[in-house]
Amino acid sequence: VTDRSFDAVLGELDPAMVVVTTAVDGERGGCLVGFHAQSSIEPRRYSLWISKANHTYGLVVRATHVGLHFLAAGDRQLAEVFGTLSGDDVDKFERCQFEDGPFDVPVLTTCANRVVAERVSLIDEGGDHICLVTAPLEVTSDGPFEPLRLSAVDDLEPGHPADGSELADAAGDG
Ligand SMILES: Cc1cc2nc3c(=O)[nH]c(=O)nc-3n(C[C@H](O)[C@H](O)[C@H](O)COP(=O)(O)O)c2cc1C
Repeated sequence: VTDRSFDAVLGELDPAMVVVTTAVDGERGGCLVGFHAQSSIEPRRYSLWISKANHTYGLVVRATHVGLHFLAAGDRQLAEVFGTLSGDDVDKFERCQFEDGPFDVPVLTTCANRVVAERVSLIDEGGDHICLVTAPLEVTSDGPFEPLRLSAVDDLEPGHPADGSELADAAGDG
């Protein structure tokens, strides 16, 4: 019952969507993320939460830097590529425009509002997502924009279920 009421309250929020990208040992990855927020003012910090089920997880635990792409209302196609496909199966970067940016972070060049950030902390409190706390290093922006919000993409089927059920399936538990 607590979970249901919690989900009902959170369901009223309509968070903006970001695509998180990274690269490590020559391998690129990235996924659509709805769990993210500024988490300190001085110094500036930005936190995001990555599912342990994701291909991106295997990279971010080793990477030093990430790219945060704040999607605009017209970016639904990018949300589909990064939110419904998995780097386990496809190279998402063949389906979008990107370049290797600072610290080899792949940056999506069609996203005008983006940040390259350095990982300052990684927190695993035992749940199905880990928290990355990052410090912004380079900000690119073309001014005010209307974010792509969850309500515009909540029909998308995640490439990996977000609640760890896939991990349980793989273990034969369900
Ligand atoms: C609307 C929406 C929001 C999502 N939010 C998150 C999130 O906050 N964190 C996360 O790790 N995955 C999130 N996902 C799931 C991943 O983007 C998705 O499973 C992706 O296909 C994983 O790709 P990968 O296996 O290449 O990492 C979300 C997916 C959707 C459709």
